[in-house]
Amino acid sequence: MRLRFGRAVLTGYGSGITMLYIMEFFKRTVNCGMLRQSDAGTVVVLNGWVHRKREHGGVSFINMRDRYGITQVVVDAHAPSELAELVAQLHNECCIAVEGTVRERPAPMTNPQMPTGAIEVAAQKIVVLNGASVLPFQIDEESNANEDLRLKYRYLDLRSGGMQNRIKLRSAVTFAVREWMNAQGFLEIETPTFIKSTPEGARDYLVPSRLYPGKFYALPQSPQLYKQLLMVGGFDKYFQIARCYRDEDARGDRQPEFTQIDIEMAFVSRDDILAMTEGLLGYVFKKTLNLELAAHFTRMSYYEAQERYGTDKPDLRFAMPLQDFGAFAECSSFNAFKDALAQGDAERAASLAQGITAAGGGVKALVVPGGAGYSRKQIEELEAQAKIYKAKVLAWMKVAGTESEPALEGGAAKFFAVQAAEIVKTLGAKPGDLIMMAADSKRRIANSSLGAVRSKLGKDLKLCDPSKFEFVWIVDFPLFEFNEEEKHWEAAHHMFSYPQERFHAVLESDPGAVLGDLYDLVLNGCELASGSIRIHDPALQKRIFAIVGLDPTEAEKRFGFLTTAFKFGAPPHGGIAPGLDRLVMLMAGQTSIKEVIAFPKNSFAISPMDDCPGKVTEEQLQELHLSIKDQDED
Ligand code: AMO
Repeated sequence: MRLRFGRAVLTGYGSGITMLYIMEFFKRTVNCGMLRQSDAGTVVVLNGWVHRKREHGGVSFINMRDRYGITQVVVDAHAPSELAELVAQLHNECCIAVEGTVRERPAPMTNPQMPTGAIEVAAQKIVVLNGASVLPFQIDEESNANEDLRLKYRYLDLRSGGMQNRIKLRSAVTFAVREWMNAQGFLEIETPTFIKSTPEGARDYLVPSRLYPGKFYALPQSPQLYKQLLMVGGFDKYFQIARCYRDEDARGDRQPEFTQIDIEMAFVSRDDILAMTEGLLGYVFKKTLNLELAAHFTRMSYYEAQERYGTDKPDLRFAMPLQDFGAFAECSSFNAFKDALAQGDAERAASLAQGITAAGGGVKALVVPGGAGYSRKQIEELEAQAKIYKAKVLAWMKVAGTESEPALEGGAAKFFAVQAAEIVKTLGAKPGDLIMMAADSKRRIANSSLGAVRSKLGKDLKLCDPSKFEFVWIVDFPLFEFNEEEKHWEAAHHMFSYPQERFHAVLESDPGAVLGDLYDLVLNGCELASGSIRIHDPALQKRIFAIVGLDPTEAEKRFGFLTTAFKFGAPPHGGIAPGLDRLVMLMAGQTSIKEVIAFPKNSFAISPMDDCPGKVTEEQLQELHLSIKDQDED
């Protein structure tokens, strides 16, 4: 490689002296985003990358880029031949230094879309700081390359305008969080990342101990227990930008390692935590996006969310609620619906006999505005969505006739002919609409199946305005969920959440009825944060362990340190953890958290760039007292 600057020609740029010299005289004096008309006439040095190069009538135009912006560099037709020769050899993504004079662009050449569009830099000297090989993909505003290629060359992908903006937003959000928390008197405290397993419902990533054969550290799924212990330790307002690790299937909004804004407070009630979170997010949105959020977010019970939207993560950017259709089903001649309800009644009675509260069956309806024009295929697609959630019966009918004399036709309409006018009125449907219905002996399945249809329609009908941020608190969650497969109760969130006081007397006798002091914050249909008021009484904590079937010896072994700590004047406390990746993803209008993480894993928990996870040597395994069964050949 030959390096040139000005009239001199440098060879062998690996030499420290040469680079030192170059960086001494060609260190940037300005960045590529800051020059304006008022800078005309000044001599500047820019450092950055060749974004685009074009020739026009013997003049070369180089769009030079760094993280601050793009500046047009011009090599005039009468430039020295050496300079022209060097420019001819430049290609995209070469790293260069340019010395030149800022000048105003002639009026027709200005570009109002570019912050630097009023000026250009007439190059006098150009130095190639480093060449660039043939690119695996074009660096554009957004890369169209496939995901694995983007991840393999992530350092190139990070140069794209979209990634640059998102990583900058992430940094600004993190900074704003720290500013606000600090101003409110929270202390940022680190907790260990080599811990004893913390139960959050996913599998742990394990780290084998070299010193203690057969023993493992776990990477934290969250700092849950440590933040509770910090409350016992007297740090009543804690936060941490905490890395969390969970061995679970990756999805659009999940990564095996991710970041939480982890928060805990002592001497508080639920409403204090909700108000604190509203204050934090209000500050972050104002500071980083200049958006004013409502001072308080809507609250909805878990029950209402399931009944109206079929999910505990409703997207409230559009209405389209699920409506109860049970009464119409009962009076109809549609036996499939009636059978689902009858079976629901039977299952409910059987559950109650075993002391388990069950909701029974349900028939729900959803009005699809303008859906009467849907083809058979379109309706089948909606049904396919509902089937994922396993509703036993799905049906539809179209609203015809006029507003004053509506009629039902197609699908299941014949079973509801007598009640047509009443149905249309009650559901608030109009001629031209489609009514989708789902029934199951388990009400929650009818709800979630139709809820999935609602979500699909929200996307298909473009009802989810990307510029809107609709927050909703989901409160009053059940404390326990019954695991149908393993036939036992388990914690719906985690085992440390406080059962609402009115249920303390029936914890053991009716776990299904117990509501907890749990809350989720949902933004645009995505679970942004979860938290709860915690148990601080060792006796109550032991009752919860017993209900979820944790053997007392095992409970003592795993969580004895926590219950012991509670015996020493543990204060009442609670907390929350907004996911930082999800927050930035939603703020940036993205649907995958990979878009806001510098070096994420792909959907198979692999990093294609450095081929991680990778094998280790036999010596390393031996040191860790490990041997691998069923090893792959490669
Ligand atoms: P939870 O498990 O609900 O609660 O997590 C809190 C928030 O963290 C984010 N999150 C994730 N983000 C990306 N990838 C993942 N795999 C992932 N898993 C969770 C979500 C979620 O709402 N210790 C409790 C919090 C508490 O009770 O204070 C906890 O971790 O945004």
